[in-house]
Amino acid sequence: MKSESRLLIGAMVMLGFAASALVVIPYVQVANVAPTSGMKPYTSTELRGREQYISNGCLYCHSQQPRAASLAPDAKRGWGRASVAGDYAFDTPHLLGTMRTGPDLLNIGARQPSVQWHLGHLYQPRAYVPGSIMPSYPYLFVIKAQAEPGDVVVHLPEGNAPAGKVVVATPEAQELVSYLLSLDRTHTVREQES
Ligand code: HEC
Repeated sequence: MKSESRLLIGAMVMLGFAASALVVIPYVQVANVAPTSGMKPYTSTELRGREQYISNGCLYCHSQQPRAASLAPDAKRGWGRASVAGDYAFDTPHLLGTMRTGPDLLNIGARQPSVQWHLGHLYQPRAYVPGSIMPSYPYLFVIKAQAEPGDVVVHLPEGNAPAGKVVVATPEAQELVSYLLSLDRTHTVREQES
């Protein structure tokens, strides 16, 4: 009986130690980090796009955490400087991601600022990158015989739009692209921010 209670106490101590080292201390360290200078809060359109990013599972294939040169050649890949805690000050929850089936997207807004490219790429990635394994998102678009006033028509590379029809971006597609364009952490960070 005595050794059982010792085991139990030992297990509790270990659990408490692990929880404080892995949860409590990191939380206290980064809970109140200020945004890096040059960061703007997301607009409501960008926030709705962020919801699309989450619900369409983009983060299962894309990270948002360029790493330091000592860890990975991310800067050479054109993904930007290593991110710091303040770069995520407006992200709740952050979308760091764990998989890199596709490129890191924390600076995609700076790397690819074209709305038309993003819309077309979401409609059909293979129209832009032959052999791409990224899924297409056709339900974010409407195929119409003719564009109506106010429609955002996607100008796809030759031969990718259904014959005689136009591809129109839904508000969801436009919001998602606004969010992608807001992903830009290329500003330099001051030493005390890193
Ligand atoms: C199954 C994995 C997968 C999923 C899910 C996925 N992607 Fe991708 N993505 C890729 C791959 C692979 C590439 C590189 C080839 C290409 O550009 O199509 C890529 C490329 C991209 C690029 C261009 C990056 C660059 O540096 O040129 C953007 C932007 C992008 N994806 C956005 C998204 C968004 C937004 C979603 C969710 C709606 C998404 N992806 C979902 C795999 C994925």
